[in-house]
Amino acid sequence: MDIKESIESVRRQFRSDSDPFPSDKDSLENLKIKFLGRKGLIANLFSQIPNLSNDQKPIAGKLLNHLKIELENSFPSDTESAFPLEEKIDRSLPGVTYPPGNKHPIQSTMDEIKRLFGQIGFAVAYGPEIDDDFHNFSALNFPKDHPARDMQDTFFTKEDLILRTHTSNVQVHLMEEKQPPLRYIVPGRVYRNESISFKSFCLFHQVEGIYIDKNVTFSDLKGTLEYFVKKMFGSKTKMRFRPSFFPFTEPSAEVDIWSEKNNQWLEILGSGMVDPQVFKAVNVDNNLWNGFAFGMGVERICMLQYEIDDIRLLYQNDVRFLEQF
Ligand code: PHE
Repeated sequence: MDIKESIESVRRQFRSDSDPFPSDKDSLENLKIKFLGRKGLIANLFSQIPNLSNDQKPIAGKLLNHLKIELENSFPSDTESAFPLEEKIDRSLPGVTYPPGNKHPIQSTMDEIKRLFGQIGFAVAYGPEIDDDFHNFSALNFPKDHPARDMQDTFFTKEDLILRTHTSNVQVHLMEEKQPPLRYIVPGRVYRNESISFKSFCLFHQVEGIYIDKNVTFSDLKGTLEYFVKKMFGSKTKMRFRPSFFPFTEPSAEVDIWSEKNNQWLEILGSGMVDPQVFKAVNVDNNLWNGFAFGMGVERICMLQYEIDDIRLLYQNDVRFLEQF
């Protein structure tokens, strides 16, 4: 057979073989090999060229090259993406199972605190973790040169904002935004630029409490916190109110509970009657309204509850630790 006819016949054969065009990767591959493979029909035609007469050689070469390009263009340039995933899925493989998770101990403690205060009428509120000097310090009656504002304790951001050092900033937001009476607890993260050790971390959680009404007394504060401590740690827990100082409360008291295990008093929260300076900063009439506030460290309480002796364990997310709760 004349070479031109052979070329034409391969073209016809390809047209019939590729109609319909293969719909899976294997038959596509086979079709390609049959025509374009190293021992395929095109290669076979090329191998005949040396035997042709000198004037036939260039003509046949040209025709054959055309056919080759034509065939190559009929195939998708990337078989993988033409048939994505096909053949890659082994439907007999067992599925991936995930072990059931459980609550992080900090979350459990936080949930319990929320529940206990919920039972005596405190609603939950939240506020910003990145805040300005006014809400974190000034409105809370911190003097301009107070050490807490120092770079040593507070994380500063570029725009004169800080990472809040306590949840007390939300006291200010709530009093600005809402009309008293107020009765809220505020759970959240707080940040301090402290050196990290078994007892302190750069990030921890607090729950703030704020109670503003008419004729609120210090015994209301004591009763509320006593209720909380007895419910949280057990009705036989020994507790004491110890006089203390905060710029934003007057008088102020810290609450300690007696730890049998450590044979010592452990501080769990700060509290006090809202200072008149704070009311002034947020334009609340202190002749009409007064109240108390408190703030507790969640990690502290969590570590006491679960007998955890290193705060860093709560932040390492080691499954061997977390599994125990
Ligand atoms: N913000 C105080 C602290 O971080 C705790 C506190 C809150 C004290 C409210 C009094 C009233 O230590």
